[in-house]
Amino acid sequence: MEESLSKIVSFCKRRGFIFPSSEIYGGFSSCYDYGPLGVELKNNLKRLWWDEMTKEKENIVGLDSAILMNPKVWKASGHLTAGFADELVECKKCHKRFRADEVKKSVCPECGGSLTKARKFNLMMKTFIGPVEDENSLAYLRPETCQGIYLNFKNVVQSMRMKPPFGICQIGKAFRNEITPKNFLYRMREFEQMEMQWFCEPETADKFFEFWKKERVKWYLKLGIKKEELRLKEVPKKELPHYAKKALDIEFKFPFGWHEIEGIHHRGDFDLSNHSKFSGEDLKYFDPEKKKRYFPYVIETSVGVDRAFFAFLCSAFTEIKGGRTKTTKSVKEVEFLLKINKFLAPVKVAVLPLVKNNQKLVKKAKEVYQMLRKHFVCQYDEVGSIGRRYRRQDEIGTVFCLTIDFESLENDDLTVRDRDTMKQKRVKIKDILSYLKEQLS
Ligand code: GAP
Repeated sequence: MEESLSKIVSFCKRRGFIFPSSEIYGGFSSCYDYGPLGVELKNNLKRLWWDEMTKEKENIVGLDSAILMNPKVWKASGHLTAGFADELVECKKCHKRFRADEVKKSVCPECGGSLTKARKFNLMMKTFIGPVEDENSLAYLRPETCQGIYLNFKNVVQSMRMKPPFGICQIGKAFRNEITPKNFLYRMREFEQMEMQWFCEPETADKFFEFWKKERVKWYLKLGIKKEELRLKEVPKKELPHYAKKALDIEFKFPFGWHEIEGIHHRGDFDLSNHSKFSGEDLKYFDPEKKKRYFPYVIETSVGVDRAFFAFLCSAFTEIKGGRTKTTKSVKEVEFLLKINKFLAPVKVAVLPLVKNNQKLVKKAKEVYQMLRKHFVCQYDEVGSIGRRYRRQDEIGTVFCLTIDFESLENDDLTVRDRDTMKQKRVKIKDILSYLKEQLS
């Protein structure tokens, strides 16, 4: 594992962002749990995406469809029959299996043995519904969330009186039996997606493809990803997913190279027309003004929550050799700063009494903490020197540190320290809630 990646992996565990799943049983391949800080950051990320879709944009409504669906769905969607399979090769000596596109020549990367010819391996995860395990009870865990959207297209049009162009968005779990899950949160077997399907008149699809491409890039930049960490890659015709007429990857510069975090797909009428054919239900839209009946074309934006989480973390994770404060001459050990966007930051505010052995300081600090914790994710910390406590908070990206010092006892105020500039200013305690609300909104 690259050194910078392993630093992030160990930071995530040490500071409560990500834990290996089933760790006490030796873990479980490519599955991860989000710790107390990880889940806050992940929830912020999902909420920001949801708000971007349903509040910042007009004409997009939400949905939360089931993970388990009628198995016929996956025949219609092409996931059982067509291209939803990776090429797999197996080592004839050690019998390890690899994705064909990830091995060079025909040599096993583990033992140097020779490899079999590539064969197709379907990525659908199987399960059984009910007490009998046979062909008839076979079901699948969804590999993408969007199929639930297509199945509910008619329901949404009718119940919400939606007219193209409009969108339906959804956040939810997806599962793929990946041959080689790897690179921490990058390729997992259980992951989460945030997908939006934009239904439009066929003639307008190319225009909206361009629109959504630009909008999605803007979203990452707005939330702090640097321009030089993002690039767009047009997917060549021969690599297009089976459902797409045209596709574009938004790629992020991970410590292990450029990789996709989001796909923008022009799916044409592939999904609605196939579900009409397989279910017998007409999913065409009737435009009463133009007296036209047609399958809307779909432009999809699809991002993995875990991949985006990972990208934001990599982008924000900063290592400062020799420490941040230059007030003393001695060279300090390495310090870490999580320079993450304030809306994504898992902890917004830390409340710190200057010292813990003064009853009055501690009492006042606890009062401030109790007042603020109802409004923001807050931490109270009295352990260690104030400098050490600032460093602990900087490491997890806490936006503001509030310190109650001896002046606070006389003036009923506190210092507010900004994570990025380390500048401090005094604010009256009676004004601190409205000050923070303004700064954090
Ligand atoms: N509905 C279209 C679709 O699922 P995709 O390109 O296969 O398209 C979309 O997946 C996004 O889902 C990817 O850009 C990635 O962020 C995320 N994703 C896909 N497979 C993943 C995996 N095995 N682990 C983590 N995230 C994954």
